[in-house]
Amino acid sequence: MIIAIDGPAGSGKSTVARGVARRLGFTYLDSGALYRAVTLLALEGGADLDDGAALGRLASAASIELRDRDGESVEVHVDGRDVSHEIRTPHVTGASSTVAAHAEVRAALLSKQRALIAAGNYVVEGRDIGTVVAPDAALKVFLTADADERARRRAAELERRGLQMEAREVKAAIEKRDRLDSTRSAAPLRAAEDAVNLDTTGLESKDVIERVLELVDGVRAAGTS
Ligand code: C5P
Repeated sequence: MIIAIDGPAGSGKSTVARGVARRLGFTYLDSGALYRAVTLLALEGGADLDDGAALGRLASAASIELRDRDGESVEVHVDGRDVSHEIRTPHVTGASSTVAAHAEVRAALLSKQRALIAAGNYVVEGRDIGTVVAPDAALKVFLTADADERARRRAAELERRGLQMEAREVKAAIEKRDRLDSTRSAAPLRAAEDAVNLDTTGLESKDVIERVLELVDGVRAAGTS
């Protein structure tokens, strides 16, 4: 069974997807980590971020491994190196949407994601899971929240990792990323037609997790009736 959780930056996807996966005993797949890993390699190698063909080759050749750390977080290894922290810096985050816009990069990472989820039960979070990566997912959820709240959540997350950034700056950065993600021609950020839209503004993640679990129960009940 695949559960797809899509939505813009700061909509609560990671916490919710991880929580749902833990409660169901499913494997959690953070597709954004793959795009971030390729972005890190591109920046380190001084690649031209507008050269889709070269970035696609980089993405195909990279060995990216996601290791679950007790269901709490995911360790990201690229070519054997732990890059879990490096891929979350504002520099990599800011460049990730430019790299992710290239069809060649998306094609390379699509194969990796499909290979991973081919066997087993997964909760997959991203931008195009319900529309492109797993269009047959048993349940598709599209999370949103208003931009101020998303900026506050992102700022709090950065602070937990020891990075100070002004709320205004964080908001501008996530709005820029959302614009790039939703206007690109290759697999843009959008809700699948059969996705359940959940506005998480003002909600605690534990309540959103419960809501998604109810939706899973509904899908399972429909499957057995
Ligand atoms: O989800 P996260 O913020 O880690 O994703 C980083 C970037 O990767 C996003 O801004 C987006 O450009 C890209 N991404 C994507 N498709 C996905 C997941 C992430 O384009 N399924």
